[in-house]
Amino acid sequence: MFRTTASPDPTEFAGRRAVVTGGSRGIGAAIVQRLLDGGATVVTSARTRTDVTPEGATFIAGDVSTLAGVRTLAAAALDVLGGVDLVVNNAGAARAHLGGADAIPDEEWIDALDLNYLSVVRLTNALLPALRESGEGAAVVNVSSVAALTPPPALIHYGAAKAALISYGKALASELAPVGIRVSTVTPGNVLTPGADAIRQDFADALGVSLAETTGAIPLGRPGDPRDIAEAVAFLASDRAQWITGTNLIVDGGEHPST
Ligand SMILES: NC(=O)c1ccc[n+]([C@@H]2O[C@H](COP(=O)([O-])OP(=O)(O)OC[C@H]3O[C@@H](n4cnc5c(N)ncnc54)[C@H](OP(=O)(O)O)[C@@H]3O)[C@@H](O)[C@H]2O)c1
Repeated sequence: MFRTTASPDPTEFAGRRAVVTGGSRGIGAAIVQRLLDGGATVVTSARTRTDVTPEGATFIAGDVSTLAGVRTLAAAALDVLGGVDLVVNNAGAARAHLGGADAIPDEEWIDALDLNYLSVVRLTNALLPALRESGEGAAVVNVSSVAALTPPPALIHYGAAKAALISYGKALASELAPVGIRVSTVTPGNVLTPGADAIRQDFADALGVSLAETTGAIPLGRPGDPRDIAEAVAFLASDRAQWITGTNLIVDGGEHPST
């Protein structure tokens, strides 16, 4: 069970203008709410709004898996916000393919890269002039996945796209450090969300186990809550992390087996 920590400082992000992708539900909705609770002005986006999309944010419907969709979103967000200080690239999705790497159709590889990797490159590029204008204190946080580090075979295409994202974040951090723009990655493990629950159900069905068993081996004793990831994102986006850039923060309850 997620234990609610102290209330966020309601002024921490005061005056900060944030764009968060995939904020209609799941981890993205928790990130949007956490930034709003810290006083940020937030624009968020997804293809469809849901009843858990935070009310306090401006919602722009759109598809970030195409260059045109990303450009439309960037222009609309800048229109609403008049600039941008924080970008959280969270939208993403995995689709499991059993049967081996060569059973995954080419279009599926391209879709995985478009949504989970190129969407981030494209949106960050589109917002970079505004981030440069914002200057010192601006931050980009990208949401990867432990599938980048310990890729399940059925998610080889998704894992590769998320691994590219970690590499991209590291390189971009070095490039932007001289102008004071920080770039970080948050890498979640198993977090309970609508999208991830659907994938885990596929794995559970294929393995003949229950859905709960797919998250039964997490050292800290429970799967993640979207707020666990939102806290990590908020920290890295904030001035509390002003001397951190290029980092990849794994938030997985201890599940990822590495030092
Ligand atoms: N939950 C986990 O266990 C877990 C673990 C590791 C990494 N992650 C990563 O965490 C991020 C959030 O995942 P989640 O678990 O919260 O998933 P989710 O519940 O499926 O939410 C995904 C969000 O992204 C949006 N999205 C998906 N495709 C999109 C598209 N083409 N254009 C615009 N928006 C799109 C969705 O809205 P629409 O579908 O309406 O567009 C939704 O708002 C993803 O990058 C995921 O890869 C999650």
